Amino acid sequence: MRKNSFKLYKDKDASLEYLNDKTISILGYGSQGRAQALNLRDSGLEVIIGLPRNNKDRKAALKDGFIVYTPEKAVKIGDIISVLAPDHKHQELYEKSIHNNLIPGKSLVFAHAYSIHFKLIKPPEYTDVILVAPHGPGEMVRKLFLEGKGVTSFIAMEHDYSGKALDKALAYARGIGSTKAGAISTTFKDEAIGDLFGEQAVLCGGLSELLSTGFKTLVKSGLSPENAYLECVHQIDLIVELIKKFGIAGMFDKISQTAEFGSYISGKKVINEKMMKNILSKIKNGDFAKTWMRESKIGMRNYKKIKRYWKNNLLQKTWERLHKILT
Ligand SMILES: NC(=O)c1ccc[n+]([C@@H]2O[C@H](COP(=O)([O-])OP(=O)(O)OC[C@H]3O[C@@H](n4cnc5c(N)ncnc54)[C@H](OP(=O)(O)O)[C@@H]3O)[C@@H](O)[C@H]2O)c1
Repeated sequence: MRKNSFKLYKDKDASLEYLNDKTISILGYGSQGRAQALNLRDSGLEVIIGLPRNNKDRKAALKDGFIVYTPEKAVKIGDIISVLAPDHKHQELYEKSIHNNLIPGKSLVFAHAYSIHFKLIKPPEYTDVILVAPHGPGEMVRKLFLEGKGVTSFIAMEHDYSGKALDKALAYARGIGSTKAGAISTTFKDEAIGDLFGEQAVLCGGLSELLSTGFKTLVKSGLSPENAYLECVHQIDLIVELIKKFGIAGMFDKISQTAEFGSYISGKKVINEKMMKNILSKIKNGDFAKTWMRESKIGMRNYKKIKRYWKNNLLQKTWERLHKILT
């Protein structure tokens, strides 16, 4: 195990002065793009947007009062280029619009280390390459900023050509509101691997399969979908709240001893550590990144098929019926 190098930066450690005379070009105006652009502008910084000519999000960016350029032009004008397009489009965006317009002194900012760590993009040495990866969707980044709070984020530097990459990363994190909550230092490698593993095996992939398979098992055994939903899905937020407040051991203290003992003997049988390690090794060796890029090249056929399954399965239909009447 590596020794702990946890370092957390707050507002007092970050100064906006490193971005004061810079133009920040935000490429993409989706979940992160919109939230970060609005927060940076509200922090007093100069922000422009880069989107392809026929992109559907141009309208929203214009309505929010931004000047919108093509990605090429936004890279030419900007000093700080924040790449907030979807990860699987970074390679094409970089080759078509970014690479030829990068000159010494410009910095690239990413919200996920994926395309740098897996070498889909190889920026020149004369560019600072910075990571500011918020731990939450854009909607949360914006909402908490407006409430005077912030979402924590990971920060890292891959290239530090200017010798000021950390200052710029901290300034950017402060501009989006992150240093209010805390910007935590990491590396591109750890963020790329940790983020993919956490979302695939635990938070999004693992959790949804856990809930859905539990629901299916009860329905197949004869329970109504409504009952199965209430037993396996509906209470999830209560358990998560207890874990966040008191830790897992604290959560066990708050549930009944029957639930606690049953959890101790059955939980381990549900989760398969060997499969988790297998997922991690496929992320580490780049297999997942190759599969995702291949999927993108074939028009996301498998992705769309699985997405349709989740939108139309019995669990989703049960949620549609119940969520309006249950609090
Ligand atoms: N969402 C999160 O919770 C979250 C959290 C932390 C980090 N991140 C990271 O943030 C980055 C952006 O993710 P996101 O979730 O914000 O994506 P998103 O919601 O899908 O938005 C992406 C935006 O980029 C636009 N776009 C597509 N191709 C483009 C191009 N060639 N040039 C410029 N813009 C282009 C999209 O337009 P169209 O939709 O019309 O293609 C859209 O406006 C990713 O690196 C992601 O890993 C996301």
